[in-house]
Amino acid sequence: MVNLGIKFCGVEFANPTVLASGILGVTASSLKNVIRNGAGGVTTKSIWLEEHKGHRNPTMFGTENYFINAVGLSDAGIEKAVSETFPEYNDEKPAPIIASIVAGKIDDFGLLAEKISDCNPDIIEVNISCPNVENEFGKPFACVVGDAAAVTKVVRAHTKKPIIIKLSPNVSNIGEIAKACMDAGADGFCAVNTFGPGLVIDINTRMPILTNKVGGVSGPGIHPLAVKCVYDVFKATGAPIIGTGGVMTGEDVIEMMMAGARLVGMGTMVYYRGVEGFKKVVSEIEEWCEKNGVKNLEEIIGTVKI
Ligand SMILES: Cc1cc2nc3c(=O)[nH]c(=O)nc-3n(C[C@H](O)[C@H](O)[C@H](O)COP(=O)(O)O)c2cc1C
Repeated sequence: MVNLGIKFCGVEFANPTVLASGILGVTASSLKNVIRNGAGGVTTKSIWLEEHKGHRNPTMFGTENYFINAVGLSDAGIEKAVSETFPEYNDEKPAPIIASIVAGKIDDFGLLAEKISDCNPDIIEVNISCPNVENEFGKPFACVVGDAAAVTKVVRAHTKKPIIIKLSPNVSNIGEIAKACMDAGADGFCAVNTFGPGLVIDINTRMPILTNKVGGVSGPGIHPLAVKCVYDVFKATGAPIIGTGGVMTGEDVIEMMMAGARLVGMGTMVYYRGVEGFKKVVSEIEEWCEKNGVKNLEEIIGTVKI
């Protein structure tokens, strides 16, 4: 018997797999369905203070190697999360829930943190890394050390819940950004958001495939890059990390954990293997542990020999 349980920021997860933000996470019933299909926890879609319209279709495109999206963080706003999603999920609460929040202004993150805390999520994930949300100089908060720290500080001042910062891979030194967030009060990280933005061209029409022209890149092709980001954040901070990026199999989960992740997020996997993919990934993790004499999954975290 393998113990797959993981403690993350004081919260117990039955296994290390977590639904990444923005995937299937619109209603409480779809989140519960992800847990029924084997995930150890779920992350909501990023929640705004007000309703936020996304981009026009087509917003997604995928090949066997990568996935690109410009959904544009469409969301009904915090009131719907407060009145519907959280009460319905918490009624049954099959597993921990991570509330993802997003804003265009630093102070709005504070208001959101306060409101979402009343919904009693286990952890708050602060999305400062979407390629479409930029500060006054045109860069996501996660790409500027001072901005990333300022958002973290505001959120810290408005909640007692554990807070993790969702980092961008599109920076020259992700460890430096993570360290600044840690010093400003972060409890952990989710690494990483999508890469890019990227551009995919329909060579018949010579037009971009996405209406938004560019989009964030995820899926198998980004996996080794994401593993390196997780390793860098772990080395710089030693903090708990949800390793996310191109994880498709149990072996990918093991690899992320060896790089330093305590939990592992999966988003694009759902487009490739379906929501049942969570169950399959968990049994692949178990199989690997049995073959390799690992009795307690926590043993492998950060054990890469570099
Ligand atoms: C369709 C789609 C929508 C996404 N929406 C969000 C979102 O609302 N908030 C967020 O923090 N990340 C969002 N992401 C990023 C994912 O949570 C994840 O960080 C990224 O896709 C890399 O992981 P993956 O390769 O497992 O998908 C989205 C990704 C995809 C593919």
